[in-house]
Amino acid sequence: MQKTIHDNLNGLLADTLVLEQKLRHYHWNVQGPQFFALHAKFEELYDRFAEVIDDVAERILTTGGKPIRTLSGALAAAAIKEDDGQPEALAMVRNLRADLEGLRERAVKGIAAAEEANDRGTVNLLDGLNDEIEKTLWMLKATLS
Ligand SMILES: [Fe+2]
Repeated sequence: MQKTIHDNLNGLLADTLVLEQKLRHYHWNVQGPQFFALHAKFEELYDRFAEVIDDVAERILTTGGKPIRTLSGALAAAAIKEDDGQPEALAMVRNLRADLEGLRERAVKGIAAAEEANDRGTVNLLDGLNDEIEKTLWMLKATLS
């Protein structure tokens, strides 16, 4: 059970590490009339995900597991894919929406596994993350509508 929880948390760690870099790329390279809004929003998001990365890694350690140590390890375990391209601004938003939907699914699976093991700390961490992702998804969807 603990192994499942650690695998879930390491999956989340891997995804958020890839996502943080993708958000930096989009922050740097976004173009067009929405530049100022998206440039600022992407920075806010990568700053927040840097905190999430730390919280998830330290939760793994707190519960006796081993967080992923390398970027190559993160890339191997991540469901979220890097983006080496130059998407237009709204395509960036669409890509992030898809990534966050996947991340939310992973968080929900992690919550279920942690609840089964009565691991309240992990449930609390992932519940908070799930709420934040849902709110960000709403904003991304509003941007696209
Ligand atoms: Fe910047």
